[in-house]
Formats: sequence, C-alpha cells, structure tokens
Amino acid sequence: MTPQKKPKVPKNTMRAAVISLGSVSSQWTAKAMRTYFSQVDELDIRKIDINFSGGESEVLYDGKPIKKYDCILAKGSFRYAQILSSVTAILEKQCYMPFRSTAFSIGHDKLLSQLTLHQFNIPMPKTYLSATPDAGKEILKKVNYPIVMKFPQGTQGKGVMFADSFVSASSMLDALSAIRQSFIIQEYVETEGMDIRVIVVGDQVIGAYKRIAQEEERRSNIHAGGKGEAYTPDEVMKKIAVKAAKAVGADICGIDILPSMKGPVVLEVNLSPGLQGIKKYANIDVADAIAKHCFDVCFGRNAKKKKAQVKAIMENVDSEKSQQLILSLDFRANRILLPELITKITKFREDVSYLIKVGHEQLQIKEYDVNNT
Ligand SMILES: Nc1ncnc2c1ncn2[C@@H]1O[C@H](COP(=O)(O)OP(=O)(O)O)[C@@H](O)[C@H]1O
Ligand SMILES: [Mg+2]
Repeated sequence: MTPQKKPKVPKNTMRAAVISLGSVSSQWTAKAMRTYFSQVDELDIRKIDINFSGGESEVLYDGKPIKKYDCILAKGSFRYAQILSSVTAILEKQCYMPFRSTAFSIGHDKLLSQLTLHQFNIPMPKTYLSATPDAGKEILKKVNYPIVMKFPQGTQGKGVMFADSFVSASSMLDALSAIRQSFIIQEYVETEGMDIRVIVVGDQVIGAYKRIAQEEERRSNIHAGGKGEAYTPDEVMKKIAVKAAKAVGADICGIDILPSMKGPVVLEVNLSPGLQGIKKYANIDVADAIAKHCFDVCFGRNAKKKKAQVKAIMENVDSEKSQQLILSLDFRANRILLPELITKITKFREDVSYLIKVGHEQLQIKEYDVNNT
C-alpha cells in the first residue's frame, strides 16, 4: 500500500462541499478535493438548518438555501447524527453523499453498530444488553471474566470500562444505573491491548495501522496513550472491513478490528476516522484517496446523466429536419470534439468534402459539392 501518485484530473466544473466541524482531518480532505473538483466549499455543520413539510424540504446554510453540489461529504460527531441523517435524506438524490442517511445513527451508537454487524453476519465480540439493572446482574453472573462495559456513544476510549470479576462488574453496573447511563456488556477479546484501525474508501481497504495500548492499560486508543505502528491486513481482514463498511452504509470509514485467536472481530465503525494516525504510522494519504473516490463517483454519475440526456434527445430526433441541441462543448486541448449524436443527425461521412464557415462564436458546416465549382 504505497501512497498514490498525484493524479491527472480531467478539466471539469464539478463542485463539492465538506460539511463538518472543521477538524484538521476535514480541512485536509477539503484541500485534497480541490485537486479534483473545480470548487470545494467548507461548510460548518452548526450553520445548517432544515425545513420540511409534506412533499417539500429545504436545507439552509447560514439562513440561505444551500448551493447545488455534485458531492457533499457530510460528517460530525454523534451530537449531530440527526442533522446529518436529515441532510443526507434530503440531498442524496441530487448529489453523491458517501454515507447513507441511516449510517449516522448506526455509526454513532455502539449498540446499533453491533446489531447491524450481527445482521450482516460479520464477526464481532459477544455483546449483551439488558432492560433492567436486575437483568444486567443476571448476565454478569453468567459471563466469563474479564468483561467490558461501554457507553453506546463514547469515543476515544472514554466510555469503555473493564471488570475482572463479578464484584467489580456488579458495582460498576450499580453506579451506571444510579446515574441513568445506558451501557452494553461485551466479552473481553484478548489481544494484549492491541487493535487494528483499517481505513475503507469506496469498496477498498486503502491502509491500516496497529494500535497498542500503554502498559497497565487495555484501551489501545491513541487518546488513551496507545502507540501506533504500520500494519498490513490480510485478505480475510480486508474483506471483513469492507463488509462492515457496507453493512453500516459508509463509503468512507475506519473499522476497528481485534485480531483474536479465532480470527478478526469488528469492534466498531468510525464515520470520521482521524487522518493523522494513518499518515503518521502508515504514511498513507487518506485525504487524497477520499477526494479521488468522490471525484470518480461524481464523474461516473455525470457521464451517466449526460448519456441519458443524449439518449432522450436521440429518441426525439427526426433525422429529416434540422435540430437545435443545447450542449456544452467538449474541448480537447484547443480542438472541439462534437458528440457522436451530431454525426448521427448530420450523417456526415469521412469520404465527403465539407464547406466550413467560421465566424465569431459561430460554426457552420455544409456538404460541399466538388463538381459545382
Ligand atoms: N470487547 C473488547 N475486548 C478487548 N478490548 C476491547 C473491547 N472493547 C474495547 N476494547 C479496547 O478498548 C478500546 C476502545 O473501545 P471502542 O469500543 O473502540 O470505543 P471507543 O469508541 O471509545 O474507541 C479499543 O480500541 C480496544 O483497545
Ligand atoms: Mg474505537
């Protein structure tokens, strides 16, 4: 997995927006997208409003209707999951958005993530949920120790607790119930404090790195003092990561995997993986990979749209009459390339001569009768 070379990008008028909280990773992504798109706006998610009623809906930015874009990369923390889902549900038909609208509620909730992974048959640690503290205690009596208890919406390792015995787990459960904090119980997967962050873009793994927890610590998060190292995932791990990304509905994400004795198990799906770690430990330019992916999807979508437009025009073409077509001209260096449709309508042939009248912003081409001169 070597860093990609800077690409040759076809000239285009495509516009993109990055809606985010303005993190360094979002800034890197927007900057990388400027290599591919003709315009990239960085929008603050806190300035987005949504109005909807009956069959109508509107997304506002800073009080005004949001501009039209070919691609909108919308991301943010779990606090913004509702607005991210809504923006996506409203705009995903008009432009390419790398996350399905349901991805935000799933990706920002560890319980929903585990349920989704389970539905898609993706290996994961055994996970338990109880409706009441008493039922929770019953679970704690049956499980093998150590176990993990975690907040559904914690990040950076902050909502993750380990208990080595029923005594400690039971007191944790009481404390969590007293403050009405919801939690899940999970089997502890022994990896000596190590997990793998795999980055998926599109339907490919573009890089990975290993995170190793500090001594006396079981959480491998870099924020919890973990250390990173380059890592090359095998095909099994890659397949699981791509499957997990698809299950959650994310074209761009970081999948946390525990390489257990029984094979890789997926711990969580991060919709906004930080890009600094993978750059630092694996020297992979994820921002460029994201930008290229978004560009390729939009380019493909636009080409498809253009083809459909031409097809619609073709269906209306009466070849006997002259037609007026409104098309943008395709310039190849300084030459003008006319679409195949024009050849079909005009019936121009290679073995015939033509008279070309050229004027300012005008071009007329007529069949030329050589015998008539
Ligand atoms: N079931 C588990 N078994 C072993 N280690 C775990 C387990 N769950 C979490 N951890 C450790 O704790 C870290 C943080 O857990 P995670 O569920 O990813 O929460 P967060 O969103 O806070 O990163 C993981 O990276 C891993 O090192
Ligand atoms: Mg994590």
